[in-house]
Amino acid sequence: GYDISSLMKETGNVTLDVGFVNTAACKSAITYIDGDEGILRYRGYPIDELAEHATFLEVAALLFDGELPSQERLSTLKEAVREASVLPEGLEKIFDAFPEGAHPMHILSSVVPALGTYYADSLSIKDEAAIEKASAALLGAIPTLAAYAYRKSIGESFIAPDPSLEYVENFMHMMFGKKEDKETVDALAMLFVLHADHEQNCSASTVRMVGSSEADLFQSITAGIGALSGPLHGGANSAVLEMLETIQSTGDTAESFMDKVKNKVDGVKLMGFGHRVYKSYDPRAAIVKKTTHTILEKNGKDEQLELAMGLEETALKDDYFVQRKLYPNVDFYTGLIYKSMGFPTDMFTVLFAIGRMPGWIAQWREQNQDPAKKIGRPRQVYTGATERSYPA
Ligand code: ACO
Repeated sequence: GYDISSLMKETGNVTLDVGFVNTAACKSAITYIDGDEGILRYRGYPIDELAEHATFLEVAALLFDGELPSQERLSTLKEAVREASVLPEGLEKIFDAFPEGAHPMHILSSVVPALGTYYADSLSIKDEAAIEKASAALLGAIPTLAAYAYRKSIGESFIAPDPSLEYVENFMHMMFGKKEDKETVDALAMLFVLHADHEQNCSASTVRMVGSSEADLFQSITAGIGALSGPLHGGANSAVLEMLETIQSTGDTAESFMDKVKNKVDGVKLMGFGHRVYKSYDPRAAIVKKTTHTILEKNGKDEQLELAMGLEETALKDDYFVQRKLYPNVDFYTGLIYKSMGFPTDMFTVLFAIGRMPGWIAQWREQNQDPAKKIGRPRQVYTGATERSYPA
């Protein structure tokens, strides 16, 4: 709706690119995406190979360092993460301040900067040892913070981390207080690997933007958590489940719901579909879809899975979706897995945050080391009133 050429005359030589559709804000060597071909690689390694073979902490080290970790590097990171999974004394009390039923994403974005207050010696952005400590602190504490946020939201007491357990097993233990079977733990670990980084998405760009002012890692990551919470980004995984529930409760069929989407009735979208970069099947969604079948077959078939598959089938044959190149993204099927594992809907985006933590940290660290870094400060195209006088 703007008359760009006349605005340009008034504002000078700036580029208007709402939503950064064509603008690269940085150079990065971390994650490669080819959206047309549906390719995703971390540090050159294809996502399907990492999903099959790598552990989550191995992937974290790969994202931070650029290379797969040596045994020594991995065990140092594991130890630091294990130590940080025990929250600093006093931090637990902060959970008492939240009202019952508080959304776990809100709790998470409040307690992460609070965690930073206990790491005052690790806030320097110039000292690599401090940055490494802060990275392990965030990586180690986030499952505990997430599980405590959940326990608080259901009014149950906390379950302390168990140092004898591996990362994901420990998280499940703090959530549900029971030992999960290997298939469930491996599936969740694999989902974390799939979420670990995705180059300059909304939350990673936010982390970079905040970090560009030389804000520390805790402050920058907190901003990323806020960005992730929105339904157009990480919040889509819970929005998909809510969408499936709405369809079921209103008695819609896949076809009648799709008519509403295509006619943009009340702005309704097919949540979990579409992506700024992927114009073909999101490679993560393809892996998630397979896992959904495995986990749901184990835990019992689900009507919502049938409905989701029906929606996908309808969409992939429909001109509206075909012409716009809209395919399922990573969030389309994840919610069904999380639900079947026993996670409530409002925890889904928190799970995304745990998975994305290594990527946020790696993006912040890469920017911090970049000699060409610059404070992020976009320009604008002013469309307001011209000068006028205050009535005397
Ligand atoms: N359902 C229906 N129509 C859609 C959808 C959808 N899920 N996604 C895009 N479209 C339509 C748009 O209405 C637009 O149509 P138009 O040309 O008639 O106006 C066209 O497709 C292009 O879409 P844009 O909104 O311009 O695409 P953009 O790149 O800005 O947005 C986004 C990408 C936000 C992911 C969008 O596809 C969307 O809202 N999807 C649903 C939410 C979602 O699943 N988010 C998770 C993204 S992945 C992640 O963060 C992990």
